[in-house]
Amino acid sequence: MKLRYKISGGILVVVVIALSSLGLVLSHNSDCKPAPAIADTSETMKATVYRCYGSPDVLKVEDIEKPAPADDQVLVRVVAASVNPLDWHYMRGSPYLMRLMIGIGSPDETRLGVDYAGTVEAVGRNVKQFKPGDDVFGGQTGAFAEYITVREGGALAMKPANVSFEQAASVGIAGITALQALRDHGKLEPGQKVLINGASGGVGTFAVQIAKSFGAEVTGVCSTRNILMVRSIGADHVIDYKQEDYTESGNEYDLIVDMVGNHSLLANRGVLAADGILVMVGGTTGNWLGFLVGPIKAFMLSPFVSQDFGTMLAKFSQDDLTILAELMQSGEVTPVIDTIYPLSEVPAAIRYSEEGHARGKIIIDLR
Ligand SMILES: NC(=O)c1ccc[n+]([C@@H]2O[C@H](COP(=O)([O-])OP(=O)(O)OC[C@H]3O[C@@H](n4cnc5c(N)ncnc54)[C@H](OP(=O)(O)O)[C@@H]3O)[C@@H](O)[C@H]2O)c1
Repeated sequence: MKLRYKISGGILVVVVIALSSLGLVLSHNSDCKPAPAIADTSETMKATVYRCYGSPDVLKVEDIEKPAPADDQVLVRVVAASVNPLDWHYMRGSPYLMRLMIGIGSPDETRLGVDYAGTVEAVGRNVKQFKPGDDVFGGQTGAFAEYITVREGGALAMKPANVSFEQAASVGIAGITALQALRDHGKLEPGQKVLINGASGGVGTFAVQIAKSFGAEVTGVCSTRNILMVRSIGADHVIDYKQEDYTESGNEYDLIVDMVGNHSLLANRGVLAADGILVMVGGTTGNWLGFLVGPIKAFMLSPFVSQDFGTMLAKFSQDDLTILAELMQSGEVTPVIDTIYPLSEVPAAIRYSEEGHARGKIIIDLR
C-alpha cells in the first residue's frame, strides 16, 4: 500500500513537471487568426468572435456566415444566451493546458458562448423530434450569435412555456453542473444535510433549488448582500461568509458542494459526516497548474480518510436538460437572473463574470 502511493507520488511529480513545461510552451505561442473571406452570395449573421487569446478586448461582434443545418441538426434563432466562467477560460486560453484541446497559438473555434435559448427556424431532413417554431434551450459552442446549429440528439430540449427565454438560457452549464454534482457525484438523498459553498452564483442558485427538490436540508454560503436572495430560493440556513467561516461552525454535513475552493480539504473534513462527500466543482484558478492542486490533494488524502473527496466535470445530456425543464415547469427551480447585456456588450458581461460576484446568471439578449 505504502509503496503504491510512493510510486503514484513519483509519477505525479513527473507528470506535474512535464505539464508545467508544456504549459510554458503553450503560453508563449499566441497569434491571431485572419478572418475568413465570406462569399458575396452567403447569408450572414452577427456573432461574437475572438481570433486570438486574451482579455475581453479580443472579442468583436462581426458579420459571419450564417450556418445551415446538416441532416441531423436543427437551426436555432438564438433569443438569449448566458455567460459562464468557461467562456472566459476559452477566451483567455487559460489554464494554458486547455490550448492542447482548443487550439495552440490561436483558438480553433473562434465563436464564443455555450448556453442558449431560442426558436427552431429550420431542421435537417432526418430530424424527427423538433420542428420549426419550437422554443428550445441547451448548450452549443458559439451561442453568442444570432444563429447556431445543434444536433438533434445533442444539448437541446424543449423550453417549457411558463419559462422565459432569459430563464431558459440560464440553465445550460450551471443547471447541469448543479444537478450532476448533487445527484451523481454527491449521491444526495432526501433528508440529508447539504452545504452549498458559493450559493449565490450561477451554479449555486441552481444547486440550492435542486437540492431542495430532492428533499435535502440545505445550507447556502454567500456574502451579506445575497443572504435574502439565497433564503428566497429555498435555503433552510444561510451562512454569511463575511461574518462566519462554515468550517468552524461545528455543524456536520452529509454533502458539501464547493464552487469556491477557499477552504482546505482538512477544514472541509471537519464539518463532513464520517461517510460524507465533498464535491469540488470550481474555484481553483491560475494559468498554470493551479486547477490541478485540489484534485492532487484529494488524491493524496483519500486513502487516509473515511470521507469521499472528488472533483467533477459536468457533461451535457439531453435527459438532464429535460429533467431541468420539468423542474422549471413545476416551479421547483426558477433561474435567478442578474444583469442582461445586449450582444454588443459581451465584453462587459465577460468582465463582470470574471470579477466572480455574479448574483445568479448573466444574460446576453439577442432579440
Ligand atoms: N467542474 C465543472 O464541471 C464546472 C461547471 C461549471 C462551473 N464550474 C466552476 O464553478 C465555479 C462557480 O461557477 P459559477 O458559474 O457559479 O460562477 P459565478 O456565477 O461567477 O458565481 C461565483 C459566486 O461565488 C460567490 N463567492 C465568491 N467568493 C465566495 C466565498 N468566499 N464564499 C462563498 N461564495 C463566494 C460569489 O458570491 P458573492 O458575490 O456573494 O461573493 C458568486 O455568487 C467556477 O470556478 C467555475 O469555473 C465548474
